[in-house]
Amino acid sequence: MITLETLAGKAQGGTLYGIGVGPGDARYMTLRAAGLVASVDVIAYFCKRGMTGNARSIAAPLIDRGREEIRLEYPVTEEIPVCDPDYASQISAFYTDAAGRLAGLLRDGHSVGLLAEGDPFFYGSCMHMWRRLAADFPVEIVPGVTGMSGCWTKANVPITWGDDILTVLTGTLPEAELLARLRQTDAAVIMKVGRHLAKVRRAVEAAGLLERAVYIERGTMPDERIMPLSQCPADRGPYFSIVMIPGQGRAL
Ligand SMILES: C[S@@+](CC[C@H](N)C(=O)[O-])C[C@H]1O[C@@H](n2cnc3c(N)ncnc32)[C@H](O)[C@@H]1O
Repeated sequence: MITLETLAGKAQGGTLYGIGVGPGDARYMTLRAAGLVASVDVIAYFCKRGMTGNARSIAAPLIDRGREEIRLEYPVTEEIPVCDPDYASQISAFYTDAAGRLAGLLRDGHSVGLLAEGDPFFYGSCMHMWRRLAADFPVEIVPGVTGMSGCWTKANVPITWGDDILTVLTGTLPEAELLARLRQTDAAVIMKVGRHLAKVRRAVEAAGLLERAVYIERGTMPDERIMPLSQCPADRGPYFSIVMIPGQGRAL
């Protein structure tokens, strides 16, 4: 009989683990992720100033009190537009400093688990640590169930049939570009909807896709909301909001 611990494996000293903790419901975490959250010496996570951190909240049921933790607080999030050179320089300096803090722990022989919501290699801040540290330290990235996968499952929306082409877009795109890309695809997922919700809805409607579009907030989390985009009156959504347009290919 294989035990859960044998299946999940334990953390090795001096290794950085980028741990994908899944879309929100802790039960969607992989065995490897859960095993590492339980066994790393130090839990690390990114967060907004004064906030708990999304990945930390998702993994909370598996983190005992008294565990060593390191908070990596973004100096800015939405205060400065991402296209502003000041944003790039502040965030880049922050990532370099964060990587230095993690490197210190790794050099001292500690195993560090950097939590990442969804999958670490899918729009994850964890990638900036991987880029800075993977040449000098052992790094293992543990894949996770992506937010979009959790969302289309909870919304009961099979996303691609047959040879449907799926396009992943971000709500940060200009409206005209969103529209152009929506016109060229069979199925779409629009990430980072948040304060771009009104623009996203206009683009989806202009592309003739409003009937099929589903809006999901905090998918798989306790306060999840799912509704047709056409029935969502708000002009902005929370950080965890996403729009899905399922394909209509070969449903045999
Ligand atoms: C910076 S990306 C991180 C994506 C993450 N690494 C993943 O694998 O899903 C954050 C965006 O993912 C989407 N997202 C992730 N999880 C979600 C969830 N549970 N419910 C709704 N949207 C989610 C939202 O659009 C959010 O703005």
